[in-house]
Parts: sequence; C-alpha cells; structure tokens
Amino acid sequence: MHIERLTLQQFRNYTSQEISFHPRLNVLTGENAQGKTNVLEAVYYLAVGKSHRTNKDADLIQHGQTAAKLQAVVRTGAREQRLVLQLRGSNKTARINGVAQSKMTDFIGRLQVVLFAPEDLSLVKGAPSLRRRFIDIELGQSQPAYLYHLSQYTRTLQQRNALLKQFTHGSGDTDYLSVFDLPLAEHGAQVWLRRQHFLLRLAELVGETYATLSSSRERLTLNYECSLPGMDFFKNSLSLPALSESFQNVLSQKYSFDCRQGHTSIGPHRDDLLFFLDGQDVQGYASQGQQRTIALALRLAEIDLLQEETGEYPVLLLDDVLSELDNLRQQNLVLAMSEKVQTILTTASPIQLPKAMTQQARLFEIRSGIIHEEG
Ligand SMILES: Nc1ncnc2c1ncn2[C@@H]1O[C@H](COP(=O)(O)OP(=O)(O)OP(=O)(O)O)[C@@H](O)[C@H]1O
Ligand SMILES: [Mg+2]
Repeated sequence: MHIERLTLQQFRNYTSQEISFHPRLNVLTGENAQGKTNVLEAVYYLAVGKSHRTNKDADLIQHGQTAAKLQAVVRTGAREQRLVLQLRGSNKTARINGVAQSKMTDFIGRLQVVLFAPEDLSLVKGAPSLRRRFIDIELGQSQPAYLYHLSQYTRTLQQRNALLKQFTHGSGDTDYLSVFDLPLAEHGAQVWLRRQHFLLRLAELVGETYATLSSSRERLTLNYECSLPGMDFFKNSLSLPALSESFQNVLSQKYSFDCRQGHTSIGPHRDDLLFFLDGQDVQGYASQGQQRTIALALRLAEIDLLQEETGEYPVLLLDDVLSELDNLRQQNLVLAMSEKVQTILTTASPIQLPKAMTQQARLFEIRSGIIHEEG
C-alpha cells in the first residue's frame, strides 16, 4: 500500500499543508526543528491512532488552536481509501471514505506503517524488558491469541508475585502458591511456543536484512535467552504439554527460592533476546553504526513479516536513521527498501541518492512548517 496524498491542518507547526508522495521514495530534508518528524508523526497517527512520542493528543494541536485535522488518501492496488482524523480537545473523530467510524478500532490498521525512530536504538542497548516489549507488540499485532495468553499469564504472575511478597514479610501459606502453577505454566507455555515460532522466522529475516545493509561485512545472529533451565530455544522443539509440564515442575522446585526473592524467578517475563555480530555479544561491543544497523534490520524484518501475514507491504517511515550510517549502508538501505515499499525518510543533512533511484524519488525541503517540493 502507499499514501498518495497527506493533508495536515493545524497539526503541530503546520497550519495548512498538502503533500503528494511518490509511491517509492520520499526524502524530507530540513534543519532541526522545522517539522520533519511532525510529518512522520502525522502519518503514524493516521495508522495507529496515537502518536509515537506523546500520549497527550492536545500536544498535536497547533498552539493557539482548538482543533487539528489529518487526511490521507491511501492506495492498495486498485482500492482507494480516504482516511480522516479530527482532534478537538481530547475528542477524536474518524472517517473512512466519508463514513463516520464509531469505534477507533475499526479505523486503526487501515493504513499500515512501520516506523523507525531514533529511540529504537534502545532495542539493542536498553533493558531486556524493551526487547520483550518489541516481541509482544509484533506478535500481538498478528496473533490475538498471543495477546490473550500473555495477558492471562501476566495476571496470574501478578497474583503469584503479590503472594510471594507476603512471604518475604513472613506471612502467608505456601499451599496457596501451587494454585498458580497450572495456569501460569499453561499460558506461559503458549507464550513460549508462539515466541519460538515467531523468533525463528524473525532471526532468519533479520540476518538477511543485516547482510544486505552491511554488504555482508558482518554476520548478525540472534539468540533467545530462555529462563527455563535446559531450554535451548532455537534448537529444542517441545510440545505444548511437555513445555507446560516442565515449567510447572520448575515452578514447584523454586518455591523456597521465589519466596526468599519475593517474585517469580522463571518464565517468559524473565527472558531476553540477544544479538551477536560474528559470534560476539553486541552489548558493550558493537559500534554506534552497527547498533543502529541492527535496530534498523529489526524494523525492516518487520516489514517482511507483515507482508507475509497480510499480503501487503506497509509504508516505511524512517526518522533520522541515516546520520550514523556510512555511505555504503545508506545506499544499501535506500535501494533495498525502495524496491518494495513506499518509504518516507527524514534527514537533516543532504543525502546522495543512488543513481538508479533518482527517477523513483521525490525530494522535499521543510522550512518552518512549510513544505517545498524540489526539482
Ligand atoms: N502543538 C504545536 N504547535 C506548534 N508548533 C509545534 C507544536 N508541537 C511542536 N511544535 C514545533 O515543531 C517543531 C519540531 O518539529 P519536529 O520535531 O518535526 O522537528 P524536526 O524537523 O524533526 O527536527 P530535528 O531535525 O531536530 O529532529 C518545533 O519547533 C516545535 O516548537
Ligand atoms: Mg526530528
């Protein structure tokens, strides 16, 4: 799918602006604070129904105004959809092809996007919880059943942990603990198996994407550090009942340890996703550019996964990714993506487009919330 036209009204620093995008590559250049990210934010908002950088919709309305309006014409093959979102205070109204939508959930996902933002670097460098969150969001998008098991698991875990906390304070009855073992093990096994299936495919795609970006200079591999003892996640394939039973056994073996700790020491909530470059753990080893390439490869792999699931490529939004990539990586990125997806990228410093791309791209320059089409 691709966006043909985007209209911003009283959105952030845009008073009234229309942009016609190229179906392939779109480059937004401009100095800092001119409104480059605001354009990507608008596209993201139309796709996801919320901003990627604020939870307060009021922030999006232009200072001094009371309402903002976003519109996009989205083409998927022969089908055209007109999406409109209007914000008034904290009120939000959505329309598709002129028809008002009573539920935002019917609106969200009409336009599909994958966004790479500078904050994505923390996927590589940050805490394990950020990587689990990435997995949960990606899997949840395509598998409602995953979200169901994850939420049941999390709820049971919270109850078990609340009880364990009482034990550390010297009260409570261990008999009550066993009540949680079965539901925790059953939902936990579902979470693990679904993660296993997803991550095997993701690892393959990320490895390929990384090779393309780096011209195969380094090899990226993934590993999943599973807290269940003896479980080599990418090698063992356990059945659901076997996995659940094994988890249940470990839970009961760990009673006294968990009681002392005051929380549950084993389960999908304790796992991590690890990255290796030529066999070396990237934490504390990889360069800035390498870390950025890894984070980027993760997002790009997401594009292929979405395409495999829905049959359509999403629109790719790249916010300020180029600055730490060398020229070769920049060119590899632009070439690899623009072949298949519509890409909208922002950059503060001018970029050199590969020759093959000059006919496939549109350049824009942004100055103080006004967009000028170049060339
Ligand atoms: N609600 C709003 N009303 C008016 N202007 C706003 C609003 N919210 C943000 N801005 C302005 O938008 C500008 C920031 O835009 P944006 O984040 O898109 O910049 P950018 O071009 O991506 O810059 P950088 O290169 O630094 O990332 C700031 O000048 C900010 O003051
Ligand atoms: Mg920006």
